[in-house]
Amino acid sequence: VYKINTVGSITKDNIKNLKSLVNALENGVAFDDIESLKHIEITPEEVSNYAFWNKNHYTRNCISKSKDFELLLLCWEGNQKTKIHGHDFQQCWVNVVKGEFLETLYHYENGEMNEINQSSIAKNESASVEDVKSFHILHNISPDRGMTLHLYMKPIQKCQFFNEDSQSLETVNLSYYSFKGERLE
Ligand SMILES: [Fe+2]
Repeated sequence: VYKINTVGSITKDNIKNLKSLVNALENGVAFDDIESLKHIEITPEEVSNYAFWNKNHYTRNCISKSKDFELLLLCWEGNQKTKIHGHDFQQCWVNVVKGEFLETLYHYENGEMNEINQSSIAKNESASVEDVKSFHILHNISPDRGMTLHLYMKPIQKCQFFNEDSQSLETVNLSYYSFKGERLE
């Protein structure tokens, strides 16, 4: 069931681009499901001020955040991917701005991490990348640079990574590579 809070004239229908999405979020519009993001086509040009890459790892770049949400641009060199991780029990929506991504879903139970599904997310497609108790890998399967827009409600300060060597979960504090277009050390 589709639900959205309306604040003034800001509704899901006039969210067409990054600027109006940020405006809606900063004015308290709540997104309850993935349908909210499906019709938004974010162009690489709109996010270019927030894009920073690192050849050793994907980067997390904060576009905007409040106590209720966090909007991040993740930048990926060709073939970069995450480890198996969870989301600290917060929901996340992903919109692929550039590139093609593969998501592998896992279920963790009784100390065992089991792969349950794989699906690709193409440019301009959105996905709710997991339910609150599952784990996943996001992988830029293109040899070229990719960008994904991630909306978390609420913000995530830490998350659990699965250490494949020790076969155990580790809690890691998350950080930003840049904040509102400014590169952080
Ligand atoms: Fe994730």
